Amino acid sequence: MLTQMETDKKITGEEAVTYIKDGMILGLGSGSTVNWMLEKLAERIKNEGLQVKGIPTSKKTERLAKKLGISLIDFTEVERIDLAIDGADEVDPNLNLLKGGGGSLVREKIVDVLADKLIITVDGSKMVPHLGDFPLPIEVVPYGWNITAKRIAVFGCEPVIRKQDEEVFISDNGNYILDCKFEKILDPKKLHQHLKAIVGVVETGLFVGVTDKVISCRSGSMEVLERNIQELDEEE
Ligand code: A5P
Repeated sequence: MLTQMETDKKITGEEAVTYIKDGMILGLGSGSTVNWMLEKLAERIKNEGLQVKGIPTSKKTERLAKKLGISLIDFTEVERIDLAIDGADEVDPNLNLLKGGGGSLVREKIVDVLADKLIITVDGSKMVPHLGDFPLPIEVVPYGWNITAKRIAVFGCEPVIRKQDEEVFISDNGNYILDCKFEKILDPKKLHQHLKAIVGVVETGLFVGVTDKVISCRSGSMEVLERNIQELDEEE
């Protein structure tokens, strides 16, 4: 029996699959909501003979996609991605995102930024008036990470090194993640620019101006938000 939140994740993940068309190169995001999307995509591949190729944004997603029989393609073989479908930890009213709760923010950003269209699938609890209640994940190079953390702290947070089973968490790229609780992130673009300029910072979990569509679901009721309806219509 699924919880209401898990049901909401399933509904939004499955809805995202309706935007997938035959022949697409897909960016496959990470997280529990995306996992529902992958299950549904595998169903469409099996039932409709849909031909798609995916680029996974994490080793976990890669493993699940392979298990479900979704064809993957090596990143070196593609120059563009038609559509990326990803999750998020927070979405603000301008469709800016805070991501990286699962530790996959670098690969997610590489894929999400490259995609012609990015659809974000979230349960309704992720829709927030401003980013920052969720500690911002920042991926840093392990060498000198404590110095990097001090430089990050200057911007108004207390970086905490992420651990898993009492060991330091290592990202798919061999780096550390600092979880940084800020007060309120009112200007995500500026904060990202400042943080990215710090030597040792690989990437931040702030995704600004990259989302085309957000599908959210709260208590079974789905809502679709678009960055710019006119622009999207023209592309289609
Ligand atoms: C992974 O690093 C994150 O960016 C995920 O997209 C995010 O944590 C989504 O999580 P759920 O879909 O599991 O809520």
